[in-house]
Amino acid sequence: MRLFVAVNFTEPFRKTLLGYQNQLRKYVSPDGGKPNWTREENLHLTLAFIGEYNRPKDVIRALERIEWEPFTISPAKIGRFGSLRWAGIENGERAVRLAEAVRASLKENGIPFDEKPMKPHITLVRELNTEEDVKIIPDGTEMTVNRISLMKSERIGGKLTYTEVWGKSMKES
Ligand code: 2AM
Repeated sequence: MRLFVAVNFTEPFRKTLLGYQNQLRKYVSPDGGKPNWTREENLHLTLAFIGEYNRPKDVIRALERIEWEPFTISPAKIGRFGSLRWAGIENGERAVRLAEAVRASLKENGIPFDEKPMKPHITLVRELNTEEDVKIIPDGTEMTVNRISLMKSERIGGKLTYTEVWGKSMKES
């Protein structure tokens, strides 16, 4: 199965990101191809991408050990990787530290993952073909990162679907 470790979002946080997507729609040019918008339920922050791996129990054992102090994030400016547009996050350095803890534990347990450095980003749309300088008005939504999830990615009826296989929550001290 195709696995990744992620932070899933609260409803208000997802609504803010939908608002970002709506603001991005005005940049779609009439001949701008077909942008592929991330569906609301699929919005997330990836901490580690494992890919095809058929021993989820081993991954869970590695993730169970991770502890962190919950922290607050809010959506930040829009960035791009080519035609993919993403929202950055405020407090990204805390997310990077959490991703590093996740990755260290995967490594110690011999679980392979994509070792490209973590660039905290939330993919909003793929194939948005515009060269315009995309700007978004932020709305100040915040959420606490107090849970990490092991996610399974699959196509169901042609739809990219993410399902939580396992999760761990931390209490705020
Ligand atoms: P992306 O949104 O920038 O494509 C599930 O595919 C999640 O894992 C996505 O958030 C994706 O990021 C991320 N991811 C990280 N590395 C990946 C890789 N090598 N292949 C596919 N997805 C990857």
